[in-house]
Amino acid sequence: MIKVSAPGKLMLFGEHAVVHGRPCIVTAIDARMRVFLKKRGDNKIITNVPDLNLKNYIISIEDLDKPYAKEIKFVLTAIKNFFEKYQIKSGLPPLPKFWCGGLEIETKSEFPMRFGLGSSSAVTVATIRGLSKIFGIKMKNKELFDLSYKTILDIQGVGSGFDLAAAIYGGTLYFVTGGKVIKKIEIRNIPVIVGYTGIKADTATLVKMVNRKLKENPEKINKIFDEIEKIVNQAKIEIENQNWKKVGELMNLNQDLLRKLGVSSKELENLIEASLNSGAYGAKLSGAGGGDCMIAIAQKENLNNVKRAIEKAGGQIIDLKTSAQGVILE
Ligand code: PMV
Repeated sequence: MIKVSAPGKLMLFGEHAVVHGRPCIVTAIDARMRVFLKKRGDNKIITNVPDLNLKNYIISIEDLDKPYAKEIKFVLTAIKNFFEKYQIKSGLPPLPKFWCGGLEIETKSEFPMRFGLGSSSAVTVATIRGLSKIFGIKMKNKELFDLSYKTILDIQGVGSGFDLAAAIYGGTLYFVTGGKVIKKIEIRNIPVIVGYTGIKADTATLVKMVNRKLKENPEKINKIFDEIEKIVNQAKIEIENQNWKKVGELMNLNQDLLRKLGVSSKELENLIEASLNSGAYGAKLSGAGGGDCMIAIAQKENLNNVKRAIEKAGGQIIDLKTSAQGVILE
């Protein structure tokens, strides 16, 4: 039995603009997704996802091309892509390059998937890392990123891959679309407060909406993206300096631009306003917008005030640590 774990993520700066060639800052969080893998003697893939009440979901290896249950599509698409890339086939002799009977897989998440904290990216990365161990194939981090990114694009059609980079490399990263740049930012823990709106965001729909706006008004939207890029570059420096007041101010500027893109929501705004009114240095949405989580930065002495204010405004505080370790075999 092979056991792999990969961290979830939290977007700090640069969402949406990062889909269009600009940088963002993402941090890996200390809540992990675990994947357990075992080879089988037959040609079946048996999957269990207890967190989503999926029990003993069985398909034949030959059916990897067919549609699967949505709870398991990241795991099975990752397997399909891995088998294709490394020409792993199941069947009768003469045997292909690698022989694979079947697989038994179980996934377990330390964080509820509804928070939007990167369960899909973490499970994709952990599955591929586990397969590389099972089949004795050495994969560099960038190869793991590229195959994971293909998997996400196959399923969602859009995305920058920032969440995969966090799951693979860990830490806090300065990341450019498709992994063109992946640079570690030297910081241990960022004192960020995370508030969940209670509403599930639909990332692909929001990304497509911004794509549409960009098409309709490229000058205006590209200008917003350029402004976001400047904020991200400044935020990288201020995070390294641990200048949290400045980081907060930059969050507010980033949030203004996200509002202009039209991706904020009433619920996010309520929690952001509550944070600022209780003395946070800054606050913004985190991720695609429309729901999921917001983040805030505040003085140490004020952290509890801000958390209480977020809760009073209807948010759920998620306690987590940033800059966690990337994917590991356990
Ligand atoms: O909704 P999330 O947490 O998956 O974040 C999406 C961030 C976007 O920049 C909007 C999309 C992307 O893939 O970078």
